[in-house]
Amino acid sequence: MNVLIISAHPEPRSFNGALVDITVSRLKAIGHQVEVGDLYQERFDPVERAEHYASRGSGEPFAPLDEQRAHHDRQALPKEITRELARLEWAELVVFHFPLWWHAQPAILKGWFDRVMVYGGRYTSRMRYDQGYFQGKRALLCVTAGSPEPAFQPFGRAGDMAAWLWPMHASLYYVGFDVLAPQVSYGVQGGGIEYQGKAALREHLEGCKRRWAERLPGLSNEATIPFAGWGDWNEQGVLKETSPLRWRLG
Ligand SMILES: Cc1cc2nc3c(=O)[nH]c(=O)nc-3n(C[C@H](O)[C@H](O)[C@H](O)COP(=O)(O)O)c2cc1C
Repeated sequence: MNVLIISAHPEPRSFNGALVDITVSRLKAIGHQVEVGDLYQERFDPVERAEHYASRGSGEPFAPLDEQRAHHDRQALPKEITRELARLEWAELVVFHFPLWWHAQPAILKGWFDRVMVYGGRYTSRMRYDQGYFQGKRALLCVTAGSPEPAFQPFGRAGDMAAWLWPMHASLYYVGFDVLAPQVSYGVQGGGIEYQGKAALREHLEGCKRRWAERLPGLSNEATIPFAGWGDWNEQGVLKETSPLRWRLG
């Protein structure tokens, strides 16, 4: 299987860096092809703006969707976007490695979606959800969080992890990916706030690495998160009264 890692951490020697290393070595060891897109190392520019589209008509107000579509159709997208799209084309599984920052992905990864998921090329009004461009490919979030796991329980002070990850899960499904359950390592303290002694922390982090290493070989056989599709919605885009999914979500 061709596996693309999109890594969004500024420090390769971090715990996130260690998890990326595990993903690479473990998957290669069992015969998969692995490529790493390290957004910080590659100095990916996450800010969508007019300057990326040198050939656009001057004097016009900048309309990101229009420019993305026009440049995609003319095969004139910025070089780094073309590179990212080629990587995605090659990949059968995409693993996103990142720390939870302010209840979300770091800005560099948010901007990667803004710029790489090109309107007109990777989604249109019809080419979305279960009709999405990336149908047949899988994606997974490998996340670290500073707060300990109990704090992320329902009514916990750190909030519901499923809710924090929903925007990314929904975006991946929006462009057609089958999304696997996330791998979340909780209580990863990179300094500052401490919840436990150094020895206990070290043991905890080793456990997080071990659990991820053990999960990796089975990824291609795992069931994916069930989402509603076009056939489940009425004309307003709302789940039909008759949908069995209403029971699951209700
Ligand atoms: C800017 C910033 C925002 C953060 N926001 C959160 C947060 O919302 N929830 C949380 O549990 N941890 C938060 N943290 C802690 C990080 O998730 C934690 O330091 C990281 O997952 C540890 O992994 P690392 O050692 O690879 O950096 C934040 C850290 C930073 C730097």
